[in-house]
Amino acid sequence: MEGPCDANERVMALSSCGLETEFCLMHRIVVTGGCGFIGSNFVRLMLETHRELSIVNIDKLTYAGNLENLADLSGNDRYAFRRGDIGDQSFIDTVLAEAPVDAVVNFAAESHVDRSILDSGPFVQTNIVGTQVLMDACRRAEVPRYLQVSTDEVYGSLGAEGFFTEETPLAPNSPYSSSKAAADLLVRGYVHTFGFPAVITRCSNNYGPYQFPEKLIPLFISNLLKDEAVPVYGTGENIRDWIHVLDHCRGIEAALLRGRVGEVYNFGGRTELPNIVLTKTLLKLLGKGENLIRYVTDRPGHDLRYAIDCRKAEEELGWRPQVRFEQGLQETIDWYLSHQDWVARIRSGDYLKYYEQQYGSRLA
Ligand code: NAD
Ligand code: DAU
Repeated sequence: MEGPCDANERVMALSSCGLETEFCLMHRIVVTGGCGFIGSNFVRLMLETHRELSIVNIDKLTYAGNLENLADLSGNDRYAFRRGDIGDQSFIDTVLAEAPVDAVVNFAAESHVDRSILDSGPFVQTNIVGTQVLMDACRRAEVPRYLQVSTDEVYGSLGAEGFFTEETPLAPNSPYSSSKAAADLLVRGYVHTFGFPAVITRCSNNYGPYQFPEKLIPLFISNLLKDEAVPVYGTGENIRDWIHVLDHCRGIEAALLRGRVGEVYNFGGRTELPNIVLTKTLLKLLGKGENLIRYVTDRPGHDLRYAIDCRKAEEELGWRPQVRFEQGLQETIDWYLSHQDWVARIRSGDYLKYYEQQYGSRLA
């Protein structure tokens, strides 16, 4: 079995070439969760940027997975979709046996904190067990590279000062973040025990096109477009660091190409905002009044502040966020304005039941 050092040497050898040359060595990758928000942006970006690359997208199509997100790729012979669960061993073995795979990038997850508070079962199953099954399948198929897409929430919550670095101890506070931290620890254990060639990335809050309208920015935009109230948890003082989804995707691309095995890379947008400031910005950009704000019961265990130190990714991977928040937010609003059918189709399905359970009469 190859050790982490051997795997690192191979990556260093790859990294000594130019980006395109380097990536020519990767002909076929598997992406999981590619029908979700970040996964679909990543698949499109990679196919556009790397002309020799083929992608197989494995997705279970949960409530958050939407084939429409990649409908523009239908007929593209460099893209293939396989519907299935990352926790289904024989299914994953079959996909990995179809042809040699140069890397697996694992986006598949239950991703919404509020849903993990309502029911943590699917989070344990997909985020932890699914990651274990996927990594074991990669080991059997001798996949030479694995990237685990993780989150800054594994570090817990900050006070008014300081930043999360890759050395910050894991201290997750929600069922969602605990399941992601458990997966990260499994990845770490596989690297150290088996020489499994994995890299972990941890990113702050993403925004941009194709985000499911249960998360703050798309939820608030979609409500405001219909003159509906927006539910601000607690006092709105909680702070998140916002990053455009394409900056996150470019970070994952850089970590896939140049990240060292066994290492963690943080990504953030250097855009810290209290939720109430972001809410008022959205109201202003959409020409709505503050009468649409509803302060509702706080999220249990609500983390106060996230802030990312991403110097390691900047120095080692040559990555930095490129999208200015003001521009990215306006473009995101424009995208939701021109994709109201996309939102309407989502909102007419199972999502209605969740919305009623989560917010119910609180928005009256
Ligand atoms: P999302 O909820 O929009 O998409 C998740 C996708 O995974 C969906 O297409 C869903 O169908 C699929 N999926 C779920 N369970 C599956 C299973 N068992 N097998 C196969 N597919 C399954 O999530 P997202 O916001 O795009 O997040 C993607 C990843 O990035 C997650 O791992 C998340 O933890 C991480 N992340 C998200 C953010 C953020 O701000 N959204 C920030 C940092 C990290
Ligand atoms: O930090 C990265 C994480 O960001 C990812 O790992 C998660 O997958 C992603 O969902 C996101 O988690 P958050 O809980 O930070 O995102 P959300 O959009 O749910 O909430 C952002 C902030 O807004 C948070 O402080 C809670 C608050 N909020 C959220 C909703 C949905 C509200 O005040 N009202 C709401 O209705």
